[in-house]
Amino acid sequence: MHLLWGALAASASLPFSQAAVKNHTGNGFPNGRAAVPFPNVVYPGASVPYAVAGAKTNQTSPPSYPSPWGTGLGDWAEAYEKAIAFVSQLTLTEKVNLTTGVGWEGDKCVGNNGAIPRLAFNSMCMEDSPLGVRDTDFNSAFSAGVTTAATWDRQLIYQRGFDMGSEHRDKGVDVQLGPVVGPLGRAPEGGRNWEGFSDDPYLAGQAVMATVQGMQDAGIMACTKHFIGNEQEHFREPGEFDGVELPGYSSNVDDRTMHEMYLWPFADAIRAGTASIMCSYNQINNSYACQNSYTLNHLLKNELGFQGFVMSDWSAQHSGVSSALAGLDMTMPGDESFDSGTAYWGANLTIAVLNGTVPQWRLDDMCVRIMAGYYYVDRPNNMVPDAPNFSAWTTDTYGPYHWYANKDVTQINYHVDVQGNHAQGIRALAAAGTVLLKNNGALPLTGNERLTTVFGEDAGENGWGPNGCGDRGCDNGTLAMGWGSGTANFPYLITPQEAIKAEVRANNGNFESVTSSAAFNQMQALANRVGQPGVGGACIVFANSDSGEGYITVDHNEGDRNNLTLWNAGNHLIKTVADYCNNTIVVMHTVGPVLVDSFYDHPNVTAILWAGLPGQESGNSITDILYGKVNPGGKTPFTWGKTRASYGTDLLYMPNEGDAAPQLDFDAGIFTDYRGFDRRNETPIYEFGFGLSYTTFSYSNLQVQSHGITPYVPTTGNTPAAPTYGTVSNDTSDYLVPEGFDRVPVYIYPFLNSTSLNASSGDPMYGIDYTFPAGGYDSSAQPYLGAGSNVAPGGNQQLYDVIFTVTADITNTGSVVGDEVAQLYISLGGPSDYNAKVVLRGFDRITISPGATVTFSADITRRDLSNWDIDTQNWVINDYPKTVYVGTSSRKLYLSSPLDTSSSGSSNTTSSSMMSSASSYSTSTVWSAPVSSASTESAASTESAPWTASTPETTPWAASTESAPTWSAWSAASSGW
Ligand code: BGC
Repeated sequence: MHLLWGALAASASLPFSQAAVKNHTGNGFPNGRAAVPFPNVVYPGASVPYAVAGAKTNQTSPPSYPSPWGTGLGDWAEAYEKAIAFVSQLTLTEKVNLTTGVGWEGDKCVGNNGAIPRLAFNSMCMEDSPLGVRDTDFNSAFSAGVTTAATWDRQLIYQRGFDMGSEHRDKGVDVQLGPVVGPLGRAPEGGRNWEGFSDDPYLAGQAVMATVQGMQDAGIMACTKHFIGNEQEHFREPGEFDGVELPGYSSNVDDRTMHEMYLWPFADAIRAGTASIMCSYNQINNSYACQNSYTLNHLLKNELGFQGFVMSDWSAQHSGVSSALAGLDMTMPGDESFDSGTAYWGANLTIAVLNGTVPQWRLDDMCVRIMAGYYYVDRPNNMVPDAPNFSAWTTDTYGPYHWYANKDVTQINYHVDVQGNHAQGIRALAAAGTVLLKNNGALPLTGNERLTTVFGEDAGENGWGPNGCGDRGCDNGTLAMGWGSGTANFPYLITPQEAIKAEVRANNGNFESVTSSAAFNQMQALANRVGQPGVGGACIVFANSDSGEGYITVDHNEGDRNNLTLWNAGNHLIKTVADYCNNTIVVMHTVGPVLVDSFYDHPNVTAILWAGLPGQESGNSITDILYGKVNPGGKTPFTWGKTRASYGTDLLYMPNEGDAAPQLDFDAGIFTDYRGFDRRNETPIYEFGFGLSYTTFSYSNLQVQSHGITPYVPTTGNTPAAPTYGTVSNDTSDYLVPEGFDRVPVYIYPFLNSTSLNASSGDPMYGIDYTFPAGGYDSSAQPYLGAGSNVAPGGNQQLYDVIFTVTADITNTGSVVGDEVAQLYISLGGPSDYNAKVVLRGFDRITISPGATVTFSADITRRDLSNWDIDTQNWVINDYPKTVYVGTSSRKLYLSSPLDTSSSGSSNTTSSSMMSSASSYSTSTVWSAPVSSASTESAASTESAPWTASTPETTPWAASTESAPTWSAWSAASSGW
């Protein structure tokens, strides 16, 4: 069914509050919200006609209890031993302190849990962001995730992670709040997509793996976020919309899509050892992410065997006991709402353990998980003096340690310079992540151009200063990161204008620029001069498109983008210059795809570059590319469609269920980005994985080595029973506020203010007859899931068995050294509405000298060949014929070979065999006529549908529903302070 009709029909049949109706005008635009881009729920024409079952409005999430206790699987064993030894000494209130934040702005970091002074254990510092240390000075501003992914270079990605982790470590941060793989990028308008890597789960998974390893090797804990289905900013939190109180939106996702798309990169983060995972603001199948027992208990802790701790996003906790039983381990920033002075946990968790509504083993598990993360990354040996040596709330040297309470004035900023030599890496990575989309021979520039001209506000300074807009919440000057919490202050920002000018002057050339957005006459005049006979040169036009986190609105974009067009009249700017200058080079700094249809084939547009969000070295990186000091090798980590509608997915800008939770149906299933384009035979302008070089490459000699498929054995057996560590005294007077205690106002403490639990809770509802899920209290040994593991985190370890090794020869057929990202895709076979035409399953970025041939090699694992089977609840290599492709983008797949998976499940296939595309198997490609070798420039992109359509039904989630309430009787009460 067409989504739009589905949504309207649903609204009509459901109670739609008068308030909601009253506040909306006839054209669908709510009063006072001129910013809302479209009158309908989604952009007209953008919804897909093949909605998958299991992505339905108002569907519910099944319950899963008890919350799996960590057991120290795999390389977590030693960390668990240490954590258990530590936690075993703690009192009840000390344990609670580990789990609960002290409240918003209560301490020096964006989040801090409670300290354990008796053991000289300081509160842990949780600090953003995924691209550098936020809220401080003398730190680096790294390239954003999306540019990082565009490098397709695991080594560069690891190094960035290590350098960011080092900076956090040297500032005294314990948990860096990144990296991001949720949002994944279901729709290109999603405001925070750029914080993550790519909308392809395999690329995102590889990038998150290298990033987590890098960060944690530096000795800090990573917090991979936001788990899960956090795909848009509108309605992410409960709140008022146009006079109506709304719950947070629900991402309605079917089981298979969940596994094959959104959960996939989280599995990789877990395999890489991420110490923590942040549960998100949104609901999943109508249960909030931080109390969704299915996503936290079943998927994360049971199936994926996650051994670290789950931290809430800031104020994403909406219940006390329920969230504890559903698997939340740490609440941030700890108060019920910012500076409310009340908390779901804190004293209420102390009370809940004493009255038995939260079992001791669950609290102990929270603490062991938190401390295991701490030991897993060796925090004790990575401490710095005065940690944290900065305050997230000011850069003044002196000020209140407890910011909100304005208490304990002391030195709070030590201005420690943590940048090291990271600038070099940032410059190199941003250049490596720059994608050359078009080149008619204009690039590289020679440096001998007589007149070099630069156009566009995006080339220049932000007149307010690089950090002049809090959390980068504006689009002034050149764009080097998006806005929101996923940012860091710039130590400096090299603009394209200054870097290009310096390059031109070094060559004694002439340079002029027009960076005022409105100066179209001046632009025309300057562009016209370049084109004059006897003059000559280049016109380099910069334009951008920005987005960010929903708490900031920029130019009417409430976090999410309202459209996919360039900002600041970018299209007009490009056309103005291109109409007069016959060598117009377009550079785009954008958070994701933009619509380039109005200029990409303009005859005067001689080159187009996507420079992403490069960070502090922006100008240097793009100059390195423009002048050929670095040969571009980046590949686009998303598809560039002709129109917004061609993506087939969109966001929800308007509530669609009255005053109930807005419903975001993931009804495109797995068919987002290139999977959707391929399925619909929709030709993009630049396909996923595409990017040119200043040289050319050819592909030949595909070899597939089979390692045989051993039978896949679902995991069996039982966990140990839930352990407890130390004893909890039942004497409530043991937990009273210590005598003479110097209380910080509005701070969240674990102590009781009365020996009566009821009085201490201060909750008029205390003790009402309320039944929590019985399974939540079951501490007996539990069966492992078949798709899970009793050996190591990441799910059944056989999923990572290497089944095939694929090699191909790549030759640099041009005249300069260059990097090629060889890409391996698999067609998993079956009907076209079951599997995508191809899915990315391998890549490598290889530097090749002119004339040289290098062998690309990639392993294909069992997981890479499997589909998630909703009936057996496991990964299955099904009988559909499978083909491997190797090429230079998702549509330029020059080489192919069938993959013989027929031995799947049989027990006797251990022998290896070699098969070659040239000999024993015929070669075919998905997009073009079979070729055994082709250059990146000459390959055709004609489309052919390799199989006919039929429509298998996927079934939705299991029938039983999640009954977890959104509150607990005593959870929301004042802790009595
Ligand atoms: C964001 C998180 C961030 C946290 C702390 C939240 O609003 O969603 O990504 O880590 O704030 O700043």
